Amino acid sequence: MIRSRVIGCGACLPANIVTNDDLAKRVDTSDEWIRERTGIRQRHIAVEGEKTSDMALGAAREALIDAGIDAGELDMIIVATTTPDESFPATATVVQSRLGMTRGAAFDVQAVCSGFIYGLSVADSLIRTGAARTILLIGAETMSRLLDWNDRATCVLFGDGAGAMVLQAHDGVGDNSDQGVLNTRIFSDGRLHDMLYTDGGVSSTQTVGKLKMQGKEVFKHAVTNIAAAIVASSQAAGLEIGDIDWFVPHQANQRILDGTARKLGIDPAKVISTVALHGNTSAASVPLALVTAVRDRRIKRGDLVLLEAMGGGFTWGAGLIRW
Ligand code: ACO
Repeated sequence: MIRSRVIGCGACLPANIVTNDDLAKRVDTSDEWIRERTGIRQRHIAVEGEKTSDMALGAAREALIDAGIDAGELDMIIVATTTPDESFPATATVVQSRLGMTRGAAFDVQAVCSGFIYGLSVADSLIRTGAARTILLIGAETMSRLLDWNDRATCVLFGDGAGAMVLQAHDGVGDNSDQGVLNTRIFSDGRLHDMLYTDGGVSSTQTVGKLKMQGKEVFKHAVTNIAAAIVASSQAAGLEIGDIDWFVPHQANQRILDGTARKLGIDPAKVISTVALHGNTSAASVPLALVTAVRDRRIKRGDLVLLEAMGGGFTWGAGLIRW
């Protein structure tokens, strides 16, 4: 059985850091309120002219070096993003060109904060069917461009950044001892559109619009849906929650991370949290957290790692990887 093995990963954050105190100078908020309600201390915000593709490229280069391969060995680039450089072409094709990759295919996936999990599901499926051998998967966002900087209920939550991984086909025996992606599970419910959306778009207003959110409702659905995705993914692999070594959640809010862990009886020490340092970076948040825990050697070869996320749509999902 073909398995998609992670052979390298990388990250990129804009140099510009905006603290909670900086935000308190712009809107009626405080460091204490933001930290208590979200766990966020700071976020990285792209400066004028800094685009999603710039961060995607930074993360991609790091992932390729980590994997020890050249861009010419890639069959595909998938960029999960809600904030592309342009309405078209896909940001993935910009990255393809800037990496000097002249073959294969490049395209974007859009599932907002679940984008990296959706991208992982697509990449794993393409590798397992033999359509591609080596895929560069990137989550990259400039969420700052979609924010209403006068709305204190949303502008304090998000940040910009990118994370990437290189997946490559390897033979496995077909059980959960295999190294690589064991399964992915993705879900959506379009009826919940109004809880999290932008009030604009190409075919409606010919603008990108601004992010609108019903925070409390998002919070409740997030804990329920993420917990369900974790259970679905672990059960599909014939594993108990307690068998999983590391949980790498979408970094939306520390209270969502804690609530989900409590609901499923997960040891909080197994949950990777980087939300304090970069806020909610949408499709970039899962790979940014993953890279942090790989770099500081918490996640080691052979560990069972569960990635999960939820975002606008709603969309949600999980992916289980033996590292
Ligand atoms: N600073 C100070 N006060 C604020 C701020 C702020 N930044 N934002 C809102 N408030 C005020 C509100 O106006 C309200 O005041 P009022 O009582 O006078 O009306 C009060 O704080 C309480 O507001 P609530 O919305 O009830 O606060 P809540 O405890 O629900 O926290 C939050 C808000 C942090 C947004 C929370 O609902 C949340 O995290 N929801 C999940 C949202 C999320 O993570 N979205 C990301 C995208 S989806 C995803 O990634 C899973």
